[in-house]
Amino acid sequence: MKHHDVIIIGAGAAGLMCAATAGYRGRDVLVLDNAKQAGRKILISGGGRCNFTNQKVEPHQFICGNPHFVKSALARYRPSDFIELVERHGIEYHERDHGQLFCNDSAKDIVTMLMTECEWAGVKVKLRTDILSVNKVDNGFVLTTSNGELSCQSLVVATGGLSMPKLGATPYGYKLAEQFGLTVLPTSAGLVPFTWHAEQKARFEALSGIAVPATITAQDGTQFSEALLFTHRGLSGPAILQISNYWRAGEAISINLFPGEDALEKIELALKNHPKQSLRNTLSHWLPKRLVEALFEEAQLDKALNQLGHGEREQLAQRLNDWSIIMNGTEGYRTAEVTLGGVDTNELSSKTMEAKNVPGLYFIGEVMDVSGWLGGFNFQWAWASGVAAGLAV
Ligand code: FDA
Repeated sequence: MKHHDVIIIGAGAAGLMCAATAGYRGRDVLVLDNAKQAGRKILISGGGRCNFTNQKVEPHQFICGNPHFVKSALARYRPSDFIELVERHGIEYHERDHGQLFCNDSAKDIVTMLMTECEWAGVKVKLRTDILSVNKVDNGFVLTTSNGELSCQSLVVATGGLSMPKLGATPYGYKLAEQFGLTVLPTSAGLVPFTWHAEQKARFEALSGIAVPATITAQDGTQFSEALLFTHRGLSGPAILQISNYWRAGEAISINLFPGEDALEKIELALKNHPKQSLRNTLSHWLPKRLVEALFEEAQLDKALNQLGHGEREQLAQRLNDWSIIMNGTEGYRTAEVTLGGVDTNELSSKTMEAKNVPGLYFIGEVMDVSGWLGGFNFQWAWASGVAAGLAV
């Protein structure tokens, strides 16, 4: 049976980062993956350009059952550390809104960089390998794989979340955690578009393709101001993806179509300046006409502003500043960027990612109950947690 100091299951973002870090420390590292290609999620990320980190990463941008858990790893491996690595490999990048950093050319550059780092660090990567069983022995673990039996002193689980099953996402990491007595918190799709109820679909489907700036508020008060996109199936765009991390089934979201503005004040001013202008024309100066027509009744839109009573104007303004809507659900793991929930961080060391009750067993990246906002935060968590474990294994 071939022995390695460290075996990492999962050649994704966290696994490859952990492997290179441990390899540079002189550890004999083997990475196993059942896919035929390493880093498949990285390749499709950020629309093929990989939003690999964010200029400003803070703990509150992560959702985790234990909000303090992420602090240590994020403080020890910062965006500037990853940017330095990217620059050392000559990868050109650019900054978009909200500090998001993307490759100029292709996400492939990031995978090539990680694989090169692994090679330089002496790491072996074995793809197309199924893990059939894992057992704890006195001084480590024995793995039965489709390529034979292997043993290791430290085992790192970096199998990712459940999003995008067609890219090979599996619940294997959760099963392994449960096998070793760790709690797995309930999982659900995160950073995911919402879907309409049937009657909403009939009313709003025609708005597909319209994008407007909006502030969206979840029931717990969390708020994001970014673009809102209407689709055939429901609502999407950055504002919706962000709020989906804070939404629970059956809860309403509030959409403010006039972010930072008081709709009533605008309507009152329009009434003063153009009392005979129709409501339709007034609102169509501020919002796409099709959206205005879907939000309000024909008869109301045909009225002149001076035909609307004060109560009616207040109601209109309320709809524009605080459109409360209960969506049917989400598009689920099929299109989700991340998985909420996962291996309970209360059972892991925040410094090393090692299971407190199973010495030598580590969990990193998305398999754990840590999910970041949209904008490069999930990769930063993969890098930071990978490095934390890589320094300890
Ligand atoms: P990751 O999913 O990267 O890797 C897990 C690995 O484990 C895979 O190689 C898989 O094959 C392997 N594996 C799974 N089950 C196995 C088994 N049973 N046996 C062996 N191997 C197994 N984030 C961000 O910060 N910026 C962005 O631009 C994007 N964009 C983006 C787009 C899309 C479409 C998606 C779906 C996701 C993103 N993300 C993102 C999220 C980001 O991709 C994600 O958070 C990280 O890839 C998580 O890294 P991990 O290493 O934990 O899992």
